[in-house]
Amino acid sequence: MFAQLFRTKPIDTEDRSGLKKCLSAFDLALLGIGCAIGTGIFVLTGIAAATLSGPAVVVSFIFAGIASGFAALSYAELAASVGGSGSAYGYSYVAFGELIAWIMGWILLLEYGVGAAAVANGWSGYFIGTLANFNIHLPELLTKAPSQGGIINLPAFGIIWVLALLLISGVKQSAQVNNIIVAIKLSTIVIFVGIAALHIHADNWQPFMPFGWFDKHADGHTIGVLAGASLVFFAYFGFDAVSTAADEAKNPQRDLPIGLIASLTFCTLVYILVSGLLTGMVHYTELNVSSPVAYALTKIGFTWSSTLVATGVLAGLITVLLVLMYGLTRILYAMSRDGLISPVFSKLNPERRTPVRIILLCALIISSIAGFFPLGELAETVNIGTLASFVMVCIGVMVLRKRQPDLKRPFKNPWNPLIPLLGVISCGALMVFLPNETWHRFIIWVLIGIVFYFVYSRHHSVLNKQAR
Ligand code: ALA
Repeated sequence: MFAQLFRTKPIDTEDRSGLKKCLSAFDLALLGIGCAIGTGIFVLTGIAAATLSGPAVVVSFIFAGIASGFAALSYAELAASVGGSGSAYGYSYVAFGELIAWIMGWILLLEYGVGAAAVANGWSGYFIGTLANFNIHLPELLTKAPSQGGIINLPAFGIIWVLALLLISGVKQSAQVNNIIVAIKLSTIVIFVGIAALHIHADNWQPFMPFGWFDKHADGHTIGVLAGASLVFFAYFGFDAVSTAADEAKNPQRDLPIGLIASLTFCTLVYILVSGLLTGMVHYTELNVSSPVAYALTKIGFTWSSTLVATGVLAGLITVLLVLMYGLTRILYAMSRDGLISPVFSKLNPERRTPVRIILLCALIISSIAGFFPLGELAETVNIGTLASFVMVCIGVMVLRKRQPDLKRPFKNPWNPLIPLLGVISCGALMVFLPNETWHRFIIWVLIGIVFYFVYSRHHSVLNKQAR
């Protein structure tokens, strides 16, 4: 049995995906930017500034960006040498064997599924704000989760179903559509930056670090710049989606590293700029609202640009959601092909050529989470999963350097093992700063996964059947 648990999958250099190789390094970078820039910068910046970091939220973004940078370099090495669209799940299968790969895949399901629910929540905040600009007010009971005094967050619930129907109808997440929406999203950021730069009041940056570096609140919640970094880390999650496009890249060994590193660098710069300007425009104590960027513009009297920016954000968040929902089905598909979950998940609807049943099931689960849980809690749960996957990818680089020293590595981290080691330490530290409840939820999820593996996956594993 132990042999099976740690049996590694050989690297498959054949391209069996049948997918069209059409994405350039530029497309890949925009894919990362399209999936990363979303709720994190447009919504969580406000919550983090008001409740965890103060104006030093910009420092939180820098810390989270550095940790993600180490992980991005490690992703780049594995994406170029191991490849495959299973991303961290696939790399773990090659580096650590089946059990760890299963746990990784299980964590990715949490990351993408709950991530989509969190982004739907962020979308809902801007949707409600935009309707309010047109004097349409939804009843509070229908816009908030039960723990916030409402019944259901209906817009968050509804948008998931709209997108599920789009995915079912065979709408392709094409690079061109993504590129256009990224352009819209970046234009809204340029408008915001242009206006904000002219309306800075340096007084708003005082006190700069009102909650300190790290502290425990009386209610057990962690506060401070480092806790803020653990929350705004959500803004970075998504650049790793570049690695899932391995089978569609024209020259994956060269372009994946470029796409990963370029998108992360670009996002980090945008986040520093936007968070610094936002807290300079409006005092951080006022930013605990669901659409802080639009709120700040309205506050200084730019209602028209507030509506424009909010509309751009609404469009921009939809691509984030689509990529996350699509990514979720793709990971389920990869795990199902390996036999670790039911083959139902790798069946396509013969007419539409889309996995209709899976999309419906995913929509049911994601919309229920989005409708009934508030954004902050969801984002922290996603972050712990993403950070765990980043840590595993960094360890994977070190393990593979030992196990397969002669593997062809078109992109190689210098000074091995310094960079992956720094990745493990910095991403591990961000995990430590997350609240205890988040840890409890994460551990329960992993335990359920392990039980599932021993009850089902172990007996149905394709790799295991081949080895017998
Ligand atoms: N990073 C993405 C966002 O902030 C998921 O919405």
